[in-house]
Amino acid sequence: MALTGYTPAWQPVCGVAGLNSSLAAGLWRCRAKLKKQTLAKILVTGGAGYIGSHTRYFLEQRGHSVIVVDNLSRGHRDAVPPGLLHEFDVRDTAQLTQLLAHERVDAVIHFAAYIAVGESTQVPEMYFSNNVGGSLSLFEAMLRSGVKHVVFSSTAAAYGIPKRVPIPETEPNAPINPYGESKVMIETVLEWLDRYRDLRSIRLRYFNACGAEPAAGLGERHDPETHLIPLILRAVLTGKPVTIFGDDYDTPDGTCIRDYIHVSDLAEAHIFAVEHLLQDGASDVFNAGTGEGHSVKEVLAAVERVTGKAVPHNIGPRREGDPPSLVADSQKLQTTLGWRPKRASLDRIVADAWAFAQQSRY
Ligand SMILES: NC(=O)c1ccc[n+]([C@@H]2O[C@H](COP(=O)([O-])OP(=O)(O)OC[C@H]3O[C@@H](n4cnc5c(N)ncnc54)[C@H](O)[C@@H]3O)[C@@H](O)[C@H]2O)c1
Repeated sequence: MALTGYTPAWQPVCGVAGLNSSLAAGLWRCRAKLKKQTLAKILVTGGAGYIGSHTRYFLEQRGHSVIVVDNLSRGHRDAVPPGLLHEFDVRDTAQLTQLLAHERVDAVIHFAAYIAVGESTQVPEMYFSNNVGGSLSLFEAMLRSGVKHVVFSSTAAAYGIPKRVPIPETEPNAPINPYGESKVMIETVLEWLDRYRDLRSIRLRYFNACGAEPAAGLGERHDPETHLIPLILRAVLTGKPVTIFGDDYDTPDGTCIRDYIHVSDLAEAHIFAVEHLLQDGASDVFNAGTGEGHSVKEVLAAVERVTGKAVPHNIGPRREGDPPSLVADSQKLQTTLGWRPKRASLDRIVADAWAFAQQSRY
Protein backbone atom coordinates (compact mmCIF):
# COMPACT_ATOMS: atom_id res chain seq x y z
CA MET A 1 0.00 0.00 0.00
CA ALA A 2 1.34 3.46 -0.87
CA LEU A 3 1.59 5.21 2.48
CA THR A 4 4.37 7.65 1.66
CA GLY A 5 4.55 10.88 -0.29
CA TYR A 6 1.20 12.15 0.87
CA THR A 7 0.75 15.56 2.51
CA PRO A 8 -2.29 15.64 4.75
CA ALA A 9 -4.64 18.57 4.09
CA TRP A 10 -5.55 18.67 7.73
CA GLN A 11 -4.14 21.08 10.28
CA PRO A 12 -4.61 20.61 14.01
CA VAL A 13 -7.22 22.00 16.35
CA CYS A 14 -5.81 25.47 17.07
CA GLY A 15 -5.47 26.59 13.43
CA VAL A 16 -7.67 29.48 12.28
CA ALA A 17 -7.12 30.97 8.83
CA GLY A 18 -6.28 34.63 8.18
CA LEU A 19 -4.81 35.73 11.53
CA ASN A 20 -2.11 38.39 12.05
CA SER A 21 1.52 37.36 12.57
CA SER A 22 1.69 37.46 16.40
CA LEU A 23 -1.46 35.43 16.68
CA ALA A 24 -0.09 33.06 14.06
CA ALA A 25 3.12 32.64 16.10
CA GLY A 26 0.97 31.87 19.12
CA LEU A 27 -0.88 29.30 17.12
CA TRP A 28 2.36 27.60 16.12
CA ARG A 29 3.38 27.36 19.77
CA CYS A 30 -0.08 26.06 20.56
CA ARG A 31 0.22 23.50 17.79
CA ALA A 32 3.62 22.31 18.96
CA LYS A 33 2.38 22.07 22.53
CA LEU A 34 -0.71 20.26 21.41
CA LYS A 35 1.27 17.78 19.36
CA LYS A 36 3.62 17.09 22.26
CA GLN A 37 0.80 16.72 24.72
CA THR A 38 -1.45 14.55 22.65
CA LEU A 39 0.84 12.12 20.83
CA ALA A 40 -0.83 8.97 22.01
CA LYS A 41 -1.21 5.24 21.59
CA ILE A 42 -4.62 4.60 20.10
CA LEU A 43 -6.50 1.37 19.57
CA VAL A 44 -8.75 1.42 16.50
CA THR A 45 -11.34 -1.36 16.57
CA GLY A 46 -12.68 -2.17 13.11
CA GLY A 47 -9.56 -0.60 11.60
CA ALA A 48 -9.62 -2.98 8.62
CA GLY A 49 -12.98 -1.51 7.59
CA TYR A 50 -13.84 1.54 5.53
CA ILE A 51 -13.90 4.42 8.02
CA GLY A 52 -11.54 2.74 10.48
CA SER A 53 -8.79 2.29 7.89
CA HIS A 54 -8.95 5.95 6.86
CA THR A 55 -8.91 7.06 10.50
CA ARG A 56 -5.91 4.81 11.22
CA TYR A 57 -4.13 6.42 8.29
CA PHE A 58 -4.81 10.01 9.40
CA LEU A 59 -3.95 9.23 13.03
CA GLU A 60 -0.55 8.01 11.86
CA GLN A 61 -0.11 11.07 9.64
CA ARG A 62 -0.75 13.16 12.72
CA GLY A 63 1.94 11.32 14.67
CA HIS A 64 -0.15 9.07 16.86
CA SER A 65 0.79 5.44 17.29
CA VAL A 66 -1.99 3.04 16.27
CA ILE A 67 -2.88 -0.59 16.77
CA VAL A 68 -5.91 -2.25 15.20
CA VAL A 69 -8.27 -4.96 16.44
CA ASP A 70 -10.44 -6.44 13.72
CA ASN A 71 -11.82 -9.96 13.21
CA LEU A 72 -11.92 -9.37 9.42
CA SER A 73 -15.57 -10.46 9.33
CA ARG A 74 -16.29 -7.46 7.09
CA GLY A 75 -12.89 -5.81 6.71
CA HIS A 76 -9.80 -6.25 4.56
CA ARG A 77 -6.39 -7.39 5.76
CA ASP A 78 -4.66 -5.23 3.15
CA ALA A 79 -6.30 -2.07 4.58
CA VAL A 80 -3.98 -2.35 7.62
CA PRO A 81 -0.21 -1.98 7.32
CA PRO A 82 1.77 -5.06 8.38
CA GLY A 83 2.33 -5.43 12.11
CA LEU A 84 -0.59 -3.32 13.32
CA LEU A 85 -3.43 -5.84 13.09
CA HIS A 86 -4.54 -7.96 16.05
CA GLU A 87 -7.03 -10.33 14.48
CA PHE A 88 -9.70 -11.23 17.00
CA ASP A 89 -13.28 -10.43 17.98
CA VAL A 90 -13.92 -7.47 20.29
CA ARG A 91 -16.27 -9.74 22.21
CA ASP A 92 -13.15 -11.50 23.56
CA THR A 93 -12.93 -9.33 26.68
CA ALA A 94 -9.93 -11.14 28.18
CA GLN A 95 -7.80 -10.75 25.06
CA LEU A 96 -8.81 -7.11 24.71
CA THR A 97 -7.97 -6.37 28.35
CA GLN A 98 -4.56 -7.94 27.94
CA LEU A 99 -3.85 -6.01 24.74
CA LEU A 100 -4.93 -2.65 26.19
CA ALA A 101 -2.72 -3.12 29.24
CA HIS A 102 0.26 -4.59 27.42
CA GLU A 103 0.27 -1.90 24.70
CA ARG A 104 -0.38 0.90 27.23
CA VAL A 105 -3.22 2.26 25.13
CA ASP A 106 -4.32 5.85 25.89
CA ALA A 107 -7.60 5.91 24.00
CA VAL A 108 -9.84 3.78 21.81
CA ILE A 109 -11.74 4.65 18.65
CA HIS A 110 -14.46 2.05 18.32
CA PHE A 111 -15.70 1.32 14.79
CA ALA A 112 -16.14 -2.46 14.97
CA ALA A 113 -19.78 -3.26 14.23
CA TYR A 114 -22.14 -4.52 11.56
CA ILE A 115 -23.55 -1.66 9.54
CA ALA A 116 -26.29 -2.77 7.14
CA VAL A 117 -29.76 -1.50 8.04
CA GLY A 118 -31.58 -4.08 5.86
CA GLU A 119 -29.59 -7.00 7.27
CA SER A 120 -30.34 -5.77 10.80
CA THR A 121 -34.06 -6.20 10.14
CA GLN A 122 -33.48 -9.80 9.01
CA VAL A 123 -31.15 -10.89 11.85
CA PRO A 124 -31.59 -8.35 14.65
CA GLU A 125 -30.07 -10.72 17.21
CA MET A 126 -26.82 -10.74 15.25
CA TYR A 127 -26.75 -6.95 15.34
CA PHE A 128 -27.41 -6.73 19.07
CA SER A 129 -24.86 -9.45 19.79
CA ASN A 130 -22.12 -7.80 17.74
CA ASN A 131 -22.84 -4.09 18.09
CA VAL A 132 -24.07 -4.06 21.68
CA GLY A 133 -22.20 -7.14 22.96
CA GLY A 134 -18.97 -6.06 21.28
CA SER A 135 -19.16 -2.54 22.72
CA LEU A 136 -19.93 -3.78 26.24
CA SER A 137 -16.98 -6.15 26.03
CA LEU A 138 -14.73 -3.28 24.94
CA PHE A 139 -15.87 -0.96 27.74
CA GLU A 140 -15.36 -3.69 30.32
CA ALA A 141 -11.84 -4.31 29.00
CA MET A 142 -11.13 -0.57 29.08
CA LEU A 143 -12.32 -0.25 32.68
CA ARG A 144 -10.29 -3.30 33.73
CA SER A 145 -7.13 -1.90 32.15
CA GLY A 146 -7.67 1.73 33.16
CA VAL A 147 -8.25 3.20 29.66
CA LYS A 148 -10.69 6.08 30.08
CA HIS A 149 -11.23 7.62 26.65
CA VAL A 150 -13.34 6.29 23.79
CA VAL A 151 -14.69 7.72 20.54
CA PHE A 152 -17.77 5.81 19.43
CA SER A 153 -19.19 5.42 15.90
CA SER A 154 -22.85 6.29 16.15
CA THR A 155 -25.19 7.11 13.31
CA ALA A 156 -27.83 9.44 11.92
CA ALA A 157 -30.07 6.32 12.07
CA ALA A 158 -30.38 7.18 15.78
CA TYR A 159 -32.85 9.92 14.76
CA GLY A 160 -35.14 7.64 12.77
CA ILE A 161 -37.44 9.91 10.77
CA PRO A 162 -36.54 13.31 12.21
CA LYS A 163 -39.05 16.11 12.67
CA ARG A 164 -36.47 18.83 12.03
CA VAL A 165 -34.00 19.04 9.13
CA PRO A 166 -31.13 20.05 9.39
CA ILE A 167 -31.10 17.76 12.43
CA PRO A 168 -29.64 19.14 15.65
CA GLU A 169 -28.14 16.78 18.24
CA THR A 170 -31.06 17.68 20.53
CA GLU A 171 -33.52 15.92 18.23
CA PRO A 172 -34.84 12.89 20.18
CA ASN A 173 -33.47 9.44 19.44
CA ALA A 174 -36.16 7.41 17.69
CA PRO A 175 -34.51 4.63 15.66
CA ILE A 176 -36.70 2.66 13.29
CA ASN A 177 -34.48 -0.39 12.77
CA PRO A 178 -32.35 -2.72 14.94
CA TYR A 179 -29.11 -1.24 13.60
CA GLY A 180 -30.03 2.27 14.76
CA GLU A 181 -31.32 0.89 18.05
CA SER A 182 -28.05 -0.97 18.69
CA LYS A 183 -26.18 2.33 18.41
CA VAL A 184 -28.62 4.24 20.61
CA MET A 185 -28.30 1.55 23.28
CA ILE A 186 -24.55 2.02 23.38
CA GLU A 187 -24.87 5.81 23.46
CA THR A 188 -27.01 5.36 26.58
CA VAL A 189 -24.49 2.96 28.15
CA LEU A 190 -21.75 5.52 27.52
CA GLU A 191 -23.73 8.25 29.30
CA TRP A 192 -23.97 6.06 32.41
CA LEU A 193 -20.32 5.03 32.23
CA ASP A 194 -19.38 8.69 32.03
CA ARG A 195 -21.41 9.48 35.13
CA TYR A 196 -20.44 6.54 37.33
CA ARG A 197 -17.16 5.15 35.96
CA ASP A 198 -15.39 8.28 34.61
CA LEU A 199 -15.19 6.72 31.16
CA ARG A 200 -15.10 9.77 28.87
CA SER A 201 -16.60 9.41 25.41
CA ILE A 202 -17.33 11.29 22.24
CA ARG A 203 -20.22 9.88 20.29
CA LEU A 204 -20.09 10.85 16.61
CA ARG A 205 -23.32 10.41 14.68
CA TYR A 206 -22.16 9.95 11.12
CA PHE A 207 -24.29 10.86 8.16
CA ASN A 208 -23.40 9.27 4.77
CA ALA A 209 -19.70 8.48 4.74
CA CYS A 210 -18.34 8.38 1.18
CA GLY A 211 -15.30 9.12 -0.96
CA ALA A 212 -11.85 7.61 -0.57
CA GLU A 213 -8.18 8.37 -0.02
CA PRO A 214 -6.80 6.86 -3.23
CA ALA A 215 -3.26 8.17 -2.60
CA ALA A 216 -3.16 5.87 0.44
CA GLY A 217 -4.79 2.97 -1.42
CA LEU A 218 -7.88 3.27 0.77
CA GLY A 219 -11.55 3.39 -0.15
CA GLU A 220 -14.96 1.81 0.25
CA ARG A 221 -15.18 -1.99 -0.23
CA HIS A 222 -18.27 -3.16 1.67
CA ASP A 223 -19.60 -6.61 0.82
CA PRO A 224 -22.46 -6.56 0.17
CA GLU A 225 -22.32 -2.90 -0.82
CA THR A 226 -25.44 -0.91 0.07
CA HIS A 227 -24.11 2.64 -0.26
CA LEU A 228 -25.14 4.85 -3.14
CA ILE A 229 -21.88 6.20 -4.58
CA PRO A 230 -20.00 2.87 -4.88
CA LEU A 231 -23.15 1.28 -6.31
CA ILE A 232 -23.43 4.00 -8.95
CA LEU A 233 -19.73 3.69 -9.79
CA ARG A 234 -20.11 -0.06 -10.08
CA ALA A 235 -22.95 0.53 -12.57
CA VAL A 236 -20.64 2.76 -14.61
CA LEU A 237 -17.88 0.13 -14.55
CA THR A 238 -20.04 -2.92 -15.25
CA GLY A 239 -22.86 -1.45 -17.36
CA LYS A 240 -25.41 -3.13 -15.04
CA PRO A 241 -28.04 -0.58 -13.99
CA VAL A 242 -28.29 0.67 -10.43
CA THR A 243 -31.78 0.99 -8.93
CA ILE A 244 -32.89 4.32 -7.45
CA PHE A 245 -35.43 3.77 -4.68
CA GLY A 246 -38.24 6.20 -5.44
CA ASP A 247 -38.48 9.50 -7.32
CA ASP A 248 -41.79 10.66 -5.86
CA TYR A 249 -40.60 12.07 -2.53
CA ASP A 250 -41.53 15.55 -1.42
CA THR A 251 -38.13 16.96 -2.43
CA PRO A 252 -37.25 19.35 -5.29
CA ASP A 253 -36.43 16.54 -7.77
CA GLY A 254 -38.39 13.75 -6.09
CA THR A 255 -35.38 11.72 -4.92
CA CYS A 256 -34.06 11.38 -1.35
CA ILE A 257 -31.66 13.95 0.04
CA ARG A 258 -28.68 12.92 2.16
CA ASP A 259 -25.68 14.59 3.78
CA TYR A 260 -22.55 13.12 2.16
CA ILE A 261 -19.41 13.46 4.27
CA HIS A 262 -16.01 12.66 2.75
CA VAL A 263 -14.46 9.76 4.66
CA SER A 264 -11.20 11.67 5.10
CA ASP A 265 -13.05 14.63 6.67
CA LEU A 266 -14.81 12.12 8.89
CA ALA A 267 -11.49 10.50 9.82
CA GLU A 268 -10.19 13.92 10.83
CA ALA A 269 -13.26 14.51 12.99
CA HIS A 270 -12.15 11.46 15.02
CA ILE A 271 -8.75 13.00 15.57
CA PHE A 272 -10.34 16.20 16.90
CA ALA A 273 -12.57 14.06 19.10
CA VAL A 274 -9.86 11.82 20.53
CA GLU A 275 -7.51 14.75 21.16
CA HIS A 276 -10.32 16.56 22.95
CA LEU A 277 -10.66 13.59 25.29
CA LEU A 278 -6.90 13.23 25.74
CA GLN A 279 -6.83 16.87 26.87
CA ASP A 280 -9.40 16.06 29.57
CA GLY A 281 -12.34 17.31 27.51
CA ALA A 282 -15.82 16.36 28.61
CA SER A 283 -17.97 13.63 27.11
CA ASP A 284 -20.30 14.83 24.37
CA VAL A 285 -22.28 13.90 21.27
CA PHE A 286 -21.84 15.45 17.81
CA ASN A 287 -23.34 15.07 14.39
CA ALA A 288 -20.68 14.33 11.80
CA GLY A 289 -22.03 15.70 8.55
CA THR A 290 -21.41 18.70 6.31
CA GLY A 291 -24.76 20.41 6.81
CA GLU A 292 -25.42 20.25 3.06
CA GLY A 293 -27.85 17.90 1.38
CA HIS A 294 -27.69 16.35 -2.09
CA SER A 295 -30.39 14.40 -3.86
CA VAL A 296 -29.81 11.02 -5.49
CA LYS A 297 -30.26 12.68 -8.89
CA GLU A 298 -27.58 15.25 -7.99
CA VAL A 299 -25.21 12.41 -7.10
CA LEU A 300 -25.95 10.73 -10.44
CA ALA A 301 -25.21 13.99 -12.25
CA ALA A 302 -21.93 14.41 -10.33
CA VAL A 303 -20.87 10.88 -11.30
CA GLU A 304 -21.63 11.63 -14.95
CA ARG A 305 -19.61 14.88 -14.76
CA VAL A 306 -16.62 13.23 -13.08
CA THR A 307 -16.49 10.00 -15.10
CA GLY A 308 -17.68 11.47 -18.38
CA LYS A 309 -19.99 8.43 -18.71
CA ALA A 310 -23.74 7.94 -18.53
CA VAL A 311 -24.95 6.06 -15.45
CA PRO A 312 -27.16 3.10 -16.35
CA HIS A 313 -30.02 3.23 -13.84
CA ASN A 314 -33.67 2.49 -13.30
CA ILE A 315 -36.22 3.87 -10.87
CA GLY A 316 -37.68 1.38 -8.40
CA PRO A 317 -40.28 1.76 -5.66
CA ARG A 318 -39.51 3.54 -2.39
CA ARG A 319 -37.62 1.54 0.23
CA GLU A 320 -39.44 1.15 3.52
CA GLY A 321 -38.19 3.47 6.23
CA ASP A 322 -36.23 5.87 3.99
CA PRO A 323 -36.83 9.44 5.21
CA PRO A 324 -37.04 12.01 2.37
CA SER A 325 -34.24 14.11 3.79
CA LEU A 326 -31.44 13.51 6.32
CA VAL A 327 -29.09 16.46 6.70
CA ALA A 328 -26.98 17.25 9.76
CA ASP A 329 -26.90 20.47 11.65
CA SER A 330 -23.10 20.28 11.81
CA GLN A 331 -22.47 23.50 13.74
CA LYS A 332 -21.77 21.90 17.12
CA LEU A 333 -18.81 19.83 15.92
CA GLN A 334 -17.40 22.87 14.15
CA THR A 335 -17.79 25.35 16.98
CA THR A 336 -16.94 23.02 19.89
CA LEU A 337 -14.04 21.01 18.47
CA GLY A 338 -12.93 23.29 15.61
CA TRP A 339 -13.37 20.65 12.89
CA ARG A 340 -14.21 21.78 9.34
CA PRO A 341 -15.08 19.61 6.33
CA LYS A 342 -12.45 20.34 3.66
CA ARG A 343 -13.52 17.99 0.91
CA ALA A 344 -17.26 18.66 0.97
CA SER A 345 -17.93 19.21 -2.74
CA LEU A 346 -19.81 16.36 -4.35
CA ASP A 347 -17.43 16.36 -7.32
CA ARG A 348 -14.40 15.95 -5.03
CA ILE A 349 -16.11 13.09 -3.18
CA VAL A 350 -17.04 11.33 -6.41
CA ALA A 351 -13.61 11.95 -7.99
CA ASP A 352 -11.86 10.31 -5.04
CA ALA A 353 -14.29 7.39 -4.98
CA TRP A 354 -13.89 6.99 -8.75
CA ALA A 355 -10.08 7.01 -8.51
CA PHE A 356 -10.28 4.25 -5.89
CA ALA A 357 -12.91 2.26 -7.82
CA GLN A 358 -10.55 2.05 -10.76
CA GLN A 359 -7.75 0.62 -8.64
CA SER A 360 -7.32 -3.09 -9.19
CA ARG A 361 -8.49 -4.33 -5.79
CA TYR A 362 -12.02 -2.95 -6.18
N1 LIG B 1 -20.33 3.81 6.52
C1 LIG B 1 -21.22 4.71 6.94
O1 LIG B 1 -21.73 5.52 6.15
C2 LIG B 1 -21.60 4.75 8.40
C3 LIG B 1 -22.63 5.63 8.80
C4 LIG B 1 -22.95 5.69 10.14
C5 LIG B 1 -22.26 4.93 11.08
N2 LIG B 1 -21.28 4.08 10.67
C6 LIG B 1 -20.56 3.29 11.70
O2 LIG B 1 -19.17 3.43 11.48
C7 LIG B 1 -18.50 2.22 11.85
C8 LIG B 1 -17.60 1.79 10.70
O3 LIG B 1 -18.36 1.67 9.51
P1 LIG B 1 -17.67 1.18 8.16
O4 LIG B 1 -18.47 1.72 7.04
O5 LIG B 1 -16.22 1.45 8.21
O6 LIG B 1 -17.93 -0.40 8.27
P2 LIG B 1 -17.02 -1.62 7.82
O7 LIG B 1 -17.89 -2.82 7.78
O8 LIG B 1 -16.24 -1.27 6.61
O9 LIG B 1 -15.98 -1.76 9.04
C9 LIG B 1 -16.32 -2.39 10.25
C10 LIG B 1 -15.12 -3.23 10.64
O10 LIG B 1 -15.38 -3.83 11.92
C11 LIG B 1 -14.97 -5.19 11.88
N3 LIG B 1 -15.77 -5.90 12.88
C12 LIG B 1 -17.12 -6.08 12.92
N4 LIG B 1 -17.47 -6.74 14.01
C13 LIG B 1 -16.33 -7.01 14.70
C14 LIG B 1 -16.05 -7.68 15.92
N5 LIG B 1 -17.01 -8.23 16.67
N6 LIG B 1 -14.76 -7.76 16.33
C15 LIG B 1 -13.76 -7.22 15.59
N7 LIG B 1 -13.98 -6.59 14.43
C16 LIG B 1 -15.25 -6.48 13.99
C17 LIG B 1 -15.22 -5.65 10.46
O11 LIG B 1 -14.43 -6.76 10.10
C18 LIG B 1 -14.85 -4.39 9.68
O12 LIG B 1 -13.49 -4.39 9.31
C19 LIG B 1 -19.58 1.22 12.21
O13 LIG B 1 -19.67 1.17 13.62
C20 LIG B 1 -20.84 1.81 11.61
O14 LIG B 1 -21.97 1.45 12.33
C21 LIG B 1 -20.93 3.97 9.35
